Amino acid sequence: MTTEAGNPIPRFPAGFLWGVSTSAHQIEGAADAREPSVWDAFTAEPGRVKDGSTAAVACDHYHRYREDVALLRELGVDAYRFSISWPRVRSGDLDFYDRLVDELCAAGVRPVPTLFHWDLPAALDWLDRDTAERFAEYVSVVAGRLGDRVPQWITLNEPAEHTLLGHALGVHAPGRRLLFDALPVAHHQLLAHGLAVRALRASGATGIGLTNSHGPTWPASREQADLEAADFYDVLLNRLFADPLLLGRYPEGIGELMPGDAEADLKIIAEPLDWYGINYYAPTRVGAPQGTEIEFGGVSMPAELPFSVREIEDRPVTDFGWPVVPEALTDLLTTFHERYADRLPPVVITENGCSYDGLDDQDRIAYLDGHIRALHRALEADVDVRGYFVWSLLDNFEWAEGYARRFGLVHVNFEDPATLKRTPKASYRWLRDVLRAQKGAGA
Ligand code: FCB
Repeated sequence: MTTEAGNPIPRFPAGFLWGVSTSAHQIEGAADAREPSVWDAFTAEPGRVKDGSTAAVACDHYHRYREDVALLRELGVDAYRFSISWPRVRSGDLDFYDRLVDELCAAGVRPVPTLFHWDLPAALDWLDRDTAERFAEYVSVVAGRLGDRVPQWITLNEPAEHTLLGHALGVHAPGRRLLFDALPVAHHQLLAHGLAVRALRASGATGIGLTNSHGPTWPASREQADLEAADFYDVLLNRLFADPLLLGRYPEGIGELMPGDAEADLKIIAEPLDWYGINYYAPTRVGAPQGTEIEFGGVSMPAELPFSVREIEDRPVTDFGWPVVPEALTDLLTTFHERYADRLPPVVITENGCSYDGLDDQDRIAYLDGHIRALHRALEADVDVRGYFVWSLLDNFEWAEGYARRFGLVHVNFEDPATLKRTPKASYRWLRDVLRAQKGAGA
């Protein structure tokens, strides 16, 4: 991979927010002390998680959060994106988040909580419209308790992946394979988001956004069938959620497939956002369907889908097999800037990162270096980007992949559950130095 690591990273504007991200189910552990989520049920089924692991203990962040906040302070980040476990709050425990937020504030790190990062309480179902109302009630409770110290909120994490992987293809919890019958799950999450924005504003909260995963879609060829399939995939990944949120309408042909009075709901869904979060990992190459079920990146894609995902060749890949294409981040941001124009609020990159093994993770350094420079190019092209968060602070439970994929700046020794020792990797020290240089006078 080309790296420009020899030259300093260009200076970002003053006030640009540098952070790292995690999520509750992936790091907290202490599963006994809360209600079950759909992920607990899913991981209990044999064969669902590749290494047969669960997140019952994970990084045991629930008990070791002080050590983790100390790592954040030493890293020098401005902000920490974590998520709040809805099942934990339902079992009456908000004290943990109270302590965590206090610890972050004392360390001078801005708390940026995500209110839903896929760990739906097992008693609830996104196919039920009522779940959207329950979500807004839960959000009011959290805002009432933490709102005095939290300046920035994220309602949902990647509703598209939760719909697609969890409900359409069945490779994530709750493990349903509904294909296009999963669309109500998308609508109900969007509605939940809109109701949550209203609940947050009613409690006096500001700095409200949500986080979607986006990436450029590359057609497999210039053939008509490939172009159409790529367009369709682009709608699913880049517009199904962004259009209703930012434009107040579904992409053509989709609104009529949604349950209930979608037109009326869109008014709630399109409540203005203070900022828009983008998680970026890689572009996707897409072509016409190939008439058979195919395995791609560990996901089996049924033959009935109107597209097929193809390998991106001639690019380095991470240990997860994801292609490394930093310049696609610049393209993605300039495309969003053109597509949504003044309807696009300031953007924050809420996740970007890669899985590589090893403590001397030079590949991760090259990945982050390339992507931070690509982000700077988007700023130069006038895209209003206000922050960048690395996924992730710690190695953690990577959903259906278990502990096999290591995304952390800090290594966690899962082999020794008694200590779960944290060891900063080379990339942690590199990012610390980048942040020092960004903040240093006249650098
Ligand atoms: C994103 C998820 C996050 C993590 C990274 C690798 O899709 O939001 O929880 O799993 O991918």
